Amino acid sequence: KATGGAAAALALAGCSGGGGGENTVTIGSDIPYRPFEYTDADGNLKGFDVDIAQAVFEEEMGMSYEFQDTAFDTIIGSLNNGNFRVIMSAMTINDQRAEQVDFSDPYFTAYQTIVVLKSSDITAKEDLKGKNVGVQKGTTGENAAQQLKEEFGGDLTIKSYDQIPAAFDALNNNQVVAVINDNTVNAEFVESHQDTVRFVEGDGAAAEEGENAPPYLTLTVENYGIAFRKDDDDFRSQVNDALQAIRDDGTYDEIYNEYFSG
Ligand code: ARG
Repeated sequence: KATGGAAAALALAGCSGGGGGENTVTIGSDIPYRPFEYTDADGNLKGFDVDIAQAVFEEEMGMSYEFQDTAFDTIIGSLNNGNFRVIMSAMTINDQRAEQVDFSDPYFTAYQTIVVLKSSDITAKEDLKGKNVGVQKGTTGENAAQQLKEEFGGDLTIKSYDQIPAAFDALNNNQVVAVINDNTVNAEFVESHQDTVRFVEGDGAAAEEGENAPPYLTLTVENYGIAFRKDDDDFRSQVNDALQAIRDDGTYDEIYNEYFSG
């Protein structure tokens, strides 16, 4: 399991040969968070964020890039300490984080969703009252669980795990009755455990919330952004231009379709 230390270099993914140096963008990310960042069976770093990084930093900006595996709940402090230059970690843009970092323009829309065991009788969020739910520490899934807890007058136990696979394991082992997490990451888990795991279904209204809204129950609508230190404005605006360029030339859609269509 990739639980690497604060700045363990996980992989050198750029093409211009040789890590470090002026022309290499170091990227902090909590791995695995499939399909955004994960290592395949051969140990290669893969994922939507990795492909976007390649398109933006390497192809558009002529730089190389290097992902550094780091804990999600301390990732913003780690960026601000100078351990890497940006965060690309399926990170949701929100006000609390924007006090500490600046974000790129949004590059992906996500929704908090709930997965449960098929054998459970949970069909609505209200059914979670009095139960244990699993989340990843420091995430918007954890925030969504805290919000639910308030709605339940405190009658919800939140178990926060360092990484999302541990939350999924806890569900499989009956230590929690549900996992609250980003929709497409939950969808990968459901797909790989089709016989035992399902989403809590919505009423279809979510489909009107935004582009690509999932058909099941959604607790939030969120946008992912690349995070920068607050003194990195020039670089941030170059990255925004590159993000726009890969949208304009179809590269973004190609990458998107590779991970999210069909
Ligand atoms: N989108 C959620 C958030 O920003 C979860 C991100 C977790 N990312 C990861 N690579 N583990 O809080």
